[in-house]
Amino acid sequence: MAVCMALGVGNFALHAAYLIEVDTDGLDDGNLLYSPDFTFGGDTTAASQSSPSGAIGMTGGDSIYGGNGSSSLDTYVYTYTPDSQADNLIFFGGEALGDSNYATGATGGGAGTYAVYATWPATDNVSGGLAHYRIDTAGDSVTNSIDQNGPGGQGDGVYFGNVWVKIGEIEYTSGPITVMQTPTANTFISMRSAGVLFELMSDQSNQDYTGPPGPVIFGQGEVRSFGVAFERNRADARTNHFSVLQSTNLIDWSTTDLKLVSITDLDVENELVAFRSMTPLTMLDHQYLKVQATPKMPVTVPYIAMTFDDGPHPIYTPILLNILEERNIRATFFVVGTQVLQYPQILRRMINEGHEIGNHTFNHYDLTTLSTEEVIAEVAGCRDSVVAAATLPTASIRPPYGAVNHALRNLFLDEFGYPTILWDVDPRDWDMAVSDAEVVDTILTESDHGEIILTHDIHARTIALMPEILDGLLSEGFSFVTVSELLELQGN
Ligand code: NI
Repeated sequence: MAVCMALGVGNFALHAAYLIEVDTDGLDDGNLLYSPDFTFGGDTTAASQSSPSGAIGMTGGDSIYGGNGSSSLDTYVYTYTPDSQADNLIFFGGEALGDSNYATGATGGGAGTYAVYATWPATDNVSGGLAHYRIDTAGDSVTNSIDQNGPGGQGDGVYFGNVWVKIGEIEYTSGPITVMQTPTANTFISMRSAGVLFELMSDQSNQDYTGPPGPVIFGQGEVRSFGVAFERNRADARTNHFSVLQSTNLIDWSTTDLKLVSITDLDVENELVAFRSMTPLTMLDHQYLKVQATPKMPVTVPYIAMTFDDGPHPIYTPILLNILEERNIRATFFVVGTQVLQYPQILRRMINEGHEIGNHTFNHYDLTTLSTEEVIAEVAGCRDSVVAAATLPTASIRPPYGAVNHALRNLFLDEFGYPTILWDVDPRDWDMAVSDAEVVDTILTESDHGEIILTHDIHARTIALMPEILDGLLSEGFSFVTVSELLELQGN
């Protein structure tokens, strides 16, 4: 499939974090084989061993406590140099690290923002007061103090220990990053540690991503397409619809700053789902994309819905209507209000021949960039143009560019009674960089029961290819229904 090849599957990053385990032998055996990236400081010469941390990625080596330096505070020091030490731990974007932290899946090395985490075993006997952390790198320094006294500890919650607790984020340019941990006071169990973890948050170089649905981190700039490989749960790719969300909040994806930005293609053979945006996504620093999977409704009968956007067109739409009529196929047209005002007779022909009309707004603006009042005017303008031309209500809305968010979906439903209709198969018929053969092939190979196919009746080549496409789908056994009929079949 063209889209996936364009992404360059081989570029997908796999290693995504750098882990320093204090004890590297992987055994809970009391034998401390210290990491070369870990040292004691102050006048501390030794710590005592304790049980491992169960945080994700840890391999089971002992943890340590105390050190009992006498004239200066105990210190544990961890050192990581992103540009010379390769990532040594695989995380996938969205993988839970515990304590409400999630892996980014971004690949380390190079400049960028790194998140720093620490872990220790669950414990309630740390007696040295708060553990103070200081993260240092050239040009940036971060401090944080954490009560390590987990279960029963004040305000910590029982999940402290055995998870990755975020110490801070640091802007890395070059050289090493050091993490120094000191207690408030030297005691027998002044503080605890099992490991420290570093992960790049804003990847400046890599716009590809691999992993199950989860947050994806990009650098600043424009993003048009990216892919997600389903290496560990291929079934996901077969049974879900996918959408892409854009957010400034990595933790809470339920907030209204979510933005649905594009829809997917699925390449089952390569276990790859490719996403793209019809307009480039402008990613700001600390903005995140997340791939969201929603289960497909079980439609076992071979129905699909053809949809045509952006018309009516004075030349191409009538030709298309002839092609549909010859095959007794009914489709759904998401019309633009300004076009309806110019060609009301074509709209009336659509309706007379049994096609469904959907709302594609009045001016075809990106609704996510407009005020609520402007959105209502755009949607009402299209609705009213259809009513004026044909005295017919519009059944649903397809927001231009697929640009929508939760607030807009609610607005469409509450104000207009519209379900929001996107699509399952996008052949990019508008994009002349995609060959005619690829447009046909995408539709014929990707369309599945119960799916919605996106095309546009304002392009000559779309209309020229439509007989081959429709005949191909008919020969595959598909029957054609309108979007509303498809929703009914799906029990909506
Ligand atoms: Ni459109």
